Amino acid sequence: MTVSLAGRTLAPPVLLAPLAGITDLPFRQLVSRFGAGLVVSEMVASQEMVEAKPSVRARAELGFGQANTAVQIAGRDAYWMAEAAKLAEGQGARIIDINMGCPAKKVVNGYSGSALMRDLDHALGLIEAVVAAVSVPVTLKTRLGWGDACLNAADLARRAEAAGIGMITIHGRTRCQFYKGHADWAAIAPVKAAVGIPVIANGDITDTATARRALAASRADGVMVGRGAQGRPWVLAQIAHDLYGAPAPDIPRGGALARMVAEHYREMLAFYGRDLGLRVARKHLGWYMDDAGTAAPLRRAILTASDPAEVLARLPDALAARQDREAA
Ligand SMILES: Cc1cc2nc3c(=O)[nH]c(=O)nc-3n(C[C@H](O)[C@H](O)[C@H](O)COP(=O)(O)O)c2cc1C
Repeated sequence: MTVSLAGRTLAPPVLLAPLAGITDLPFRQLVSRFGAGLVVSEMVASQEMVEAKPSVRARAELGFGQANTAVQIAGRDAYWMAEAAKLAEGQGARIIDINMGCPAKKVVNGYSGSALMRDLDHALGLIEAVVAAVSVPVTLKTRLGWGDACLNAADLARRAEAAGIGMITIHGRTRCQFYKGHADWAAIAPVKAAVGIPVIANGDITDTATARRALAASRADGVMVGRGAQGRPWVLAQIAHDLYGAPAPDIPRGGALARMVAEHYREMLAFYGRDLGLRVARKHLGWYMDDAGTAAPLRRAILTASDPAEVLARLPDALAARQDREAA
C-alpha cells in the first residue's frame, strides 16, 4: 500500500504523530534514522509564530527544509493561519499540517484545535485560506468529532478534500474523550469511504499487531504512531518492516541501546542547553528505562541526577536489563 501526497510517495505509510514537548527535533531525527514515512513537528500557534522574533523562531526548530517533516500549525483565525503557512513554506517546509484535533482547554477555549469540529464552516474557511496561501501540500489532523452527538469527521473530510487538503489523519477518539477509553478504529472507516485522498489511522497503535488491527478495522491507507514510540523510537520502522516489507530496523540491545540513548541524551542537552535539556531528557530516559525494566533504585538515581556525566556513566547498567531479560 502506498500513500501519495501531491505526487510524492510517503513510504512506508507509517508516520510519527506530533506530541508537544516530546517529538522535538532530536526525537524526530532519531525516529527518522530508524525509518518513518513522515514525521510531524509539534503544533505551533500560528499568530505567535508569525509575530515571534526571528531568533525565537529559529530556536523552534520545526524541521523547515527537511523533506520528511510536516510542519503543524494551529489557530482559529484564517489570516494568521495563512500567514503562518506562508512563513513556514518560505522557510522551507515541505508539507503544512493543520491541527484540528487538540483537545486541550487552553487551545479549544481559543476555538482552535478540535473546537473547530463544532463549526465546520469556520474550519473550512481556515483550510481554504491555508491551501490558497501555499503551493506545498496541506494536510489535516483531526478526531472523530467533538462528542458522540457530533461525529462529523466524514463530513469535514469530504469538504476538506474539496478544498484541496491532500491527506487526513484521524485520531479515533472524540474531543470529549480526551485520551480516555480506546481509539475506535472502525469509526475511521466511514471517513476513508467518504474521500479519495489518503486517510491515516491514529490512536493507540503501539506495535505491529495493533497497526494491523487498526488498518483492518479502518481500511485506512496508513498508520500514525505517537505515544507508542516513546522509549521505542524503532517501533515505526518495525511496523513498516512487518507490514510493508521495509528494511528491518537494527533494534539496539544492551551496549548498543546504551550508546543510542547516550547519543539522544547528548543531542537533547545540545539542543535545549544544559538546564532545560536535563529536564526534557528525564521524560525520555524514563521511557527508555520503563522499556528496559530498569530496577527502581537505579532508575531513581538517573532521574534525579543533575550531572549529565553521572547519567551517562550509569546508562549502560540501567539499559542492560532489557538484554538480560531477553537472554533469559
Ligand atoms: C503529550 C501529547 C502531546 C500532543 N501534542 C499534539 C500536537 O502538538 N499536535 C497534534 O495534532 N496532536 C497532538 N497530540 C495527539 C497525538 O498526535 C495523537 O493524535 C494521540 O496521542 C493519539 O495517538 P497515540 O495513541 O499513538 O499517541 C498530543 C498527544 C499527547 C499525548
